[in-house]
Amino acid sequence: MKAMFSSPLLKPGLIALAVTLAMPLQGQAAETATGANLVDALQALGGPSAGLRKAHAHGVCFTGSFTPDSASAAAITKSPAYTASTSYPVSGRFSMGGPNPHAPDNAKEGRGLAVRLTPNADASMDLVLASTPMFAAATPDEFLELLTTVKSGDKEKIGAFMKTHDAPGRQHAWLEARPVYASFATTPYYGIHAFRFVNAAGKITMGKIVTTPVGEATGLSDAEAKAKGGDFLAAELAGRVAKGPAKIDVAVQIAEAGDSLNDPTKDWPDTRKTVHLGTLNIEKAGGTACVGEVFMPTAVTEGVELGTDPILPMRATAYAVSYGRRLSGK
Ligand code: HEM
Repeated sequence: MKAMFSSPLLKPGLIALAVTLAMPLQGQAAETATGANLVDALQALGGPSAGLRKAHAHGVCFTGSFTPDSASAAAITKSPAYTASTSYPVSGRFSMGGPNPHAPDNAKEGRGLAVRLTPNADASMDLVLASTPMFAAATPDEFLELLTTVKSGDKEKIGAFMKTHDAPGRQHAWLEARPVYASFATTPYYGIHAFRFVNAAGKITMGKIVTTPVGEATGLSDAEAKAKGGDFLAAELAGRVAKGPAKIDVAVQIAEAGDSLNDPTKDWPDTRKTVHLGTLNIEKAGGTACVGEVFMPTAVTEGVELGTDPILPMRATAYAVSYGRRLSGK
């Protein structure tokens, strides 16, 4: 902006206009989002979290395997993660959304599923999914503004933000319309971002990852959820997988003309066609294997490419900041 103000081409009227445009317009972010200020804002909201993830802080590790459905997947992707001829081991983590390390398991809040698919020594891809099909903000700046507005506690400011941004309300309503799921393994998860899936013939298909629990997506009644208390999901998962693997189907929801490819607040109709990619088998729960890991939503193999959604690359930056802070005990 300094260069603009000093430009000899700018007459006083234009300078006034430039100053006006440089001022944050009502409802726009005053600050440009970076990985660091987003993580600062999450930490400010979540309370003390030394050594822990700065979002999805409360969670449980798991290990298991992935069984690709190569016959189905090959139509849209050549990724070895989905077209390998045999099952291969995986590790991952389930979590409660948000930055609070004590986020109660029995709240109608978002959950997360992260899993590293490593079909061979040369290929690795992370899926980092949430339990709503939409995100609360369209851009990193908007997400920063949302976090800082909520943190301000100023009811008028929060109300004004929600009036001009419907995504947080729609996300909240989506969760409210569904039960608290009885298990991390019986919760549906969504990739939210559109990725480019590329098959062996080079054909590109835009799609979003969606998962479905094999068996029932069992929900708790409000009274049951209350009785469970705030910390039951890790033990439930351990008990469940002790009796046999918990299975989760992984598929891609295929875009149709007019579906937004770069706005993660715009979920696609659930009538979209899906292509089955494989089945995740959760075999062991607990332990600390995932504690020192970072799952990167931008880590992909050949056959899967990042789309144009601006939230996705910012996630990689923010996760790196969070990882650095938690490794150094902050
Ligand atoms: C700009 C937007 C976002 C920011 C700033 C953000 C920030 C973060 C941070 C800082 C972490 C902790 C990373 C670590 O220390 O390993 C995290 C974890 C996570 N985020 Fe995000 N996130 C964003 C968007 C999303 C979206 C769109 C999804 C779902 C599609 C998502 C799902 C998750 C999950 C599941 C985890 C936990 C991963 C694990 O268990 O290791 N986040 N997020």
